[in-house]
Amino acid sequence: MKRSLIAVAFAASAIAAFTGIVAAKDEAAKDVLPPGSVSRAEGLEAWKRIEAVVTHPRCANCHVDAKAIPIWTPAGETRPRVHGMNIHGGESRIGAETIPCSTCHITSTQANEPAPAPPRAGIDWQLAPVAFIWFGKSGAEICAQLKDPKRNGGRDAAGLVEHLRHDASLSGFIPRGWAPGAGRTTPPGTFEDHVKDMALWGAAGQPCPN
Ligand code: HEC
Ligand code: HEC
Repeated sequence: MKRSLIAVAFAASAIAAFTGIVAAKDEAAKDVLPPGSVSRAEGLEAWKRIEAVVTHPRCANCHVDAKAIPIWTPAGETRPRVHGMNIHGGESRIGAETIPCSTCHITSTQANEPAPAPPRAGIDWQLAPVAFIWFGKSGAEICAQLKDPKRNGGRDAAGLVEHLRHDASLSGFIPRGWAPGAGRTTPPGTFEDHVKDMALWGAAGQPCPN
């Protein structure tokens, strides 16, 4: 009896997750613009705005290299520094080898508390995969990497837009960059602006600055 209840609950959550993916796909389909419908110049303008987002501490602090040390930019500070308390993401990127990120960064769709409370999200807190390094990279380097399917999780231009919608459907890290908890700065623009810019950049053929 208990078993079948668990099975039913599991099936229901699997269906909910699947519906979420389908909904995010549908929504992303509305955002994506026809390839070639945007000029290279407009695409480069869109990239400049994307660059200001992906190099912002709310995004770059998690997109770190293989040393797996998350970065902190506490409220009222602008200079990044190493995460306090000797935290290490490890190869797992979730801190499984030492102290799991989830000890402090709980998984919850509730709004973030004001700084310095640890931020949270609807998906388990973790560092971005090593291939997606943004921290300490130049805008041109990040641009080249973000359009390279070998270094962006196998995504084409539409796939990147879809990723933003999918992450938002889970109350993930990306929309929360703009709702990080009172006291913390946010990237320029809004999450919706960022989705539009990603669509513009994609339709322009993902041009990068030299
Ligand atoms: C012992 C508690 C604790 C653990 C464990 C922990 N963190 Fe944190 N983390 C915090 C606190 C508190 C803050 C907020 C600091 C502030 O804003 O002043 C924070 C902030 C961050 C930030 C900065 C967020 C931003 O928007 O600038 C990142 C990135 C981060 N943690 C990543 C991680 C990762 C990845 C792990 C696991 C490998 C982890 N943390 C484990 C307590 C913890
Ligand atoms: C808590 C850590 C964390 C924060 C903060 C974070 N990310 Fe990520 N990011 C991840 C993880 C983990 C993945 C891998 C997820 C996947 O590929 O499905 C990822 C993947 C991505 C990807 C897809 C592939 C690629 O090329 O990088 C994009 C785009 C992205 N993040 C954008 C952002 C943006 C924009 C922000 C800030 C608004 C942000 N992220 C903040 C952890 C984070």
